[in-house]
Amino acid sequence: MTAEQKYNLALFLATLEDMLCTGYASKRAYSFSPDIVDAAAEPAEEQKEQEPLVSPALQEPVPPDSLSRVANEVYICTACPLHKTRTATVPGEGVEKPIVLVIGEGPGAEENKSGRPFVGPAGQLLDKMLASINLSREKQCFITNVVKCRPPFNRDPQPDEMLSCMPFLARQIDLLKPKLILSLGRISTQWLLQTDEAISRLRGQWKDYHGIPFLPTYHPSALLHNEMWKRPAWEDLKTLKARLQELEK
Ligand code: URA
Repeated sequence: MTAEQKYNLALFLATLEDMLCTGYASKRAYSFSPDIVDAAAEPAEEQKEQEPLVSPALQEPVPPDSLSRVANEVYICTACPLHKTRTATVPGEGVEKPIVLVIGEGPGAEENKSGRPFVGPAGQLLDKMLASINLSREKQCFITNVVKCRPPFNRDPQPDEMLSCMPFLARQIDLLKPKLILSLGRISTQWLLQTDEAISRLRGQWKDYHGIPFLPTYHPSALLHNEMWKRPAWEDLKTLKARLQELEK
């Protein structure tokens, strides 16, 4: 294989890698640059041993991580069985520097159709809960889930599915740097805190998630089914609001 053929192959592989990882979001130039071809031309006999093993195209710095890159990787993810039954992936949405990151367990039927988190009945209640303490997904929040694809029949996401999806959430938290995290329901709270304590004991208590104040509360779909939990959930929202007011000082 000539150096030019090797270069073309490397360029093809780098393009493919970029397409798979970023959906062409990186700033790589894909044009065939004559300069680079010259550099990759057959070296003189005595230089042959120094020929780089990796093409210049593959040595380019990896573009910085971004929310859209995470979303694109979620879009093509096949790491767990949930990809087989999903219609849309649901990476999350909201503002880029949120005060509050809201974390649910996983998309439901409506979310699986629209690709947006919390848009079904539970989502409408969540929007009302946030509005009651002057928060909205458009202005101060980012809303996502532990798993980004719908578990079939709304079953609980399994530990191996949450584990597969965790790098996406970890990257989102890293990029978003929220001031506070609100976790919704037993599944996301127990998973993130790695505990099996009951949500009734965890809710309303400030925890720490990798240095970020973390408040568990009931899941809005639980509130839709059990009126009894609405009052404690309201107490939790007031706890969140008090912390937000402290942050504003
Ligand atoms: N329930 C969740 O946990 N997440 C959603 O996005 C919708 C419903």
